[in-house]
Amino acid sequence: MKIAIGSDHAGLALKEALKAYLDSRMIPYEDLGTHTQDSCDYPRIAEIVCKAILSSEFDRGILICGTGIGMSMAANKIPNIRAAACSEPYSAILSKRHNNSNVLCLGARVVASGLATLITEGWLNASYEGERHQRRVDMLTRIEQRYAIPAVSHPIKEDDTNPILPSETSASEN
Ligand code: RB5
Repeated sequence: MKIAIGSDHAGLALKEALKAYLDSRMIPYEDLGTHTQDSCDYPRIAEIVCKAILSSEFDRGILICGTGIGMSMAANKIPNIRAAACSEPYSAILSKRHNNSNVLCLGARVVASGLATLITEGWLNASYEGERHQRRVDMLTRIEQRYAIPAVSHPIKEDDTNPILPSETSASEN
């Protein structure tokens, strides 16, 4: 299993702690950013990590921001991404068993590194159960399809491709 991991500035320290955990378990991963404490925009990081998962180079993703909420909102906009923001292991495990989550989102301002590690461990060890759950996951996909709008209608703006915009964000509002 290969993991794509990413965070914004608020999640940077927790990401380093989780990378140490992945190293200790010899689980391969790639850190797709951000790599500094400069304020950056979580949707951009979420899109980078989710695109990497959809490319099939990675099996699962882990996204970390202040609460885990912004990352999960951004990730769940992307077809075939099922992101779960979790602050305890039970939900994380069930998000894989029942919902076949392929992205785990964590809030660095919500969970300390010890708990985040337990959440991550439970999620990585869990397996999708399929069967009756597949019918429901298929329904999620069909909802996506019903509301899909061609990407050509939404051109990429400069902000979308620039993960770090220090000049636009003061330290007090990062
Ligand atoms: C950054 O201050 C914070 O808004 C971000 O990390 C995240 O919590 C958003 O959901």
